[in-house]
Amino acid sequence: MKRFLFNPLPFSSLLAAVCLSFTGCKPADSGGGPQDTGPGANTGKIRVGEYASMTGGEAAFGQSSHKGTQLAFEEVNKSGGVLGRQIEHLLEDTQSKQGESATISKKFISRDKVVALLGEVASGRSLEAAPFCQEARIPMISPSSTNPKVTEMGDYIFRVCFTDPFQGRLLAEFAQKTLKARRVAILSDTASAYSVGLAKYFKDPFVAGGGQVVLEQKYSGKDKDFKAQLTAIKAANPEAICVPGYYTEAGLIVAQARQLGINVPLFGGDGWEAPQLIEIAGGKALENTYYSTHYSSENTDPQVQSFVAAFKARYNGETPDAMAALGYDSARVLADAIKRAGSTEGPKLRDAIAATKDFPCVTGRTTLDASRNASKSAVILTVKDNRFKYVETISP
Ligand code: PHE
Repeated sequence: MKRFLFNPLPFSSLLAAVCLSFTGCKPADSGGGPQDTGPGANTGKIRVGEYASMTGGEAAFGQSSHKGTQLAFEEVNKSGGVLGRQIEHLLEDTQSKQGESATISKKFISRDKVVALLGEVASGRSLEAAPFCQEARIPMISPSSTNPKVTEMGDYIFRVCFTDPFQGRLLAEFAQKTLKARRVAILSDTASAYSVGLAKYFKDPFVAGGGQVVLEQKYSGKDKDFKAQLTAIKAANPEAICVPGYYTEAGLIVAQARQLGINVPLFGGDGWEAPQLIEIAGGKALENTYYSTHYSSENTDPQVQSFVAAFKARYNGETPDAMAALGYDSARVLADAIKRAGSTEGPKLRDAIAATKDFPCVTGRTTLDASRNASKSAVILTVKDNRFKYVETISP
């Protein structure tokens, strides 16, 4: 477990902000004095714990999501905080590893006395932490875990993104209607709850709609060589290949498929989302590939564009991807709920998060339903000339 501690930007200190952006030095702690935080406290800073994969195989997820979360809390703190208090944003690195999220959530709850947890991106890691949050009655909001089981862990567990039954259905429809593919092969990751789930949520509606899954192949976690599975897939002669996994492996799969002379479209879900996808696979191999995700930075909506501008200004011109947008949204939904709850006590905060209605997120207006999920549009992206390109929007 690696620990990061981010002091909130002192809102009155322009000098410190300038120093931070140009030299990377840390601003002095703006609070001072003993901490009176924790769910029961009503003075001092409000402590929130974020857990994310800052290093390891899925580092792009955590780093990106964290930047969004950090930007949101900085904005909240600059505008005076919530309930007249500043947010103290703690970050722990899950290292993209199994087991870490459970340890981190226990520590956040018992030692740091956080009022809520934000995380994880990957469903498998959210599933590890959720039982501890539920038991302690400390709300957890996952920015971007799409597997349905995550919020089924209990009534303190929320997400601000759509779920995989929706994502699987839209991919099935996309394969049938846009790609005109009737014969599809699936290559999924047995080590990821997300991938196992999305493979099924794609397959069921695809077959129900008259499609045929000609072959299903599997890999596990950090595999690097997919030639055996791809050779079998090539022999089955599909019209498209569904790869419901994470970018690290999806990138290698796309590259190796093209090397084997497989030219049919490959497609996947939000797990493909990372600038590293293009680095791993190469822009050429990614032509004629597609993935569904939560947002496009090309959306001309003024709220999206002002988020993109603020993010670029804060992070050296970097364009925010879907995880960054959802990280930002998760933090803002939490801050809004703390305000409405008028309290940081677990049960009150839980009720306020559950009552989130029509909240203006950059990934779309967000209402949490009775199952603590958000129903939102998805976008399909492709890669053209080494860049992600918007294809279409699909509404729930
Ligand atoms: N939805 C993925 C999961 O549940 C994580 C993810 C979200 C990846 C958003 C990329 C973008 O594991």
